[in-house]
Amino acid sequence: MDAREMKVEAAKAALAYVEDGMRLGIGTGSTAEEFVRLLAEKVHGGLKVEGVPTSERTARLCLELGVPLKSLDELPELDLTVDGADEVDADLTLIKGGGGALLREKIVAAASSRMIVIADESKLVGVLGAFPLPIEVNPFGEAATRIAIERAAAKLGLSGELKLRKSGGDIFMTDGGHHIFDASFGRIPDAEALSAELNSIPGVVEHGLFIHMASLAIIAGKAGARTLQA
Ligand code: A5P
Repeated sequence: MDAREMKVEAAKAALAYVEDGMRLGIGTGSTAEEFVRLLAEKVHGGLKVEGVPTSERTARLCLELGVPLKSLDELPELDLTVDGADEVDADLTLIKGGGGALLREKIVAAASSRMIVIADESKLVGVLGAFPLPIEVNPFGEAATRIAIERAAAKLGLSGELKLRKSGGDIFMTDGGHHIFDASFGRIPDAEALSAELNSIPGVVEHGLFIHMASLAIIAGKAGARTLQA
């Protein structure tokens, strides 16, 4: 099974948790897109669901494939969100935001009764942090915000390059009009402490640590999909 087949496997297993009439948060990224494709097949087969997309990219795919969409303002309480992740640890703490959608992903997941994360086994880690942590910042005063992030991280003994994300030659813009620093801390042994520090910085809009949000992870490996509970 190659990486794409593992993503499909995880997405397929997540579909088993989708029930008729559900209000769904729909994640972003290549794994979430496999879920959208399978969901669309079910919708064409008669399944009734309404989805809230976590990005413009996901919204476009859903519209193309005929998955009915609503905004989060129209459907502010969701039954289930299914989304991918860049890293997952044994407590189901996640790093997300590799695709740049972390803010909407976190808002949608927080509005959901349940979040299921789907991933191939390469995303499962012992300690978070090998994947650079995406930190979404307001472009205003971002040099000052960078210094504040570096100081906050240093309080926890963390250091590493903060790279302003680029797309082609341009600065990457999130759907909300913000920038992203990808922070290479290497290891994040205390995600809660780092989250609290980052949340206290005014220029930080959101960060990619998802703590106590996912209650189930479906991890697909060569031998098939297995589940991890929070
Ligand atoms: C999007 O912003 C991210 O949080 C994605 O969920 C994450 O990057 C996983 O993407 P893949 O499924 O493409 O690895």
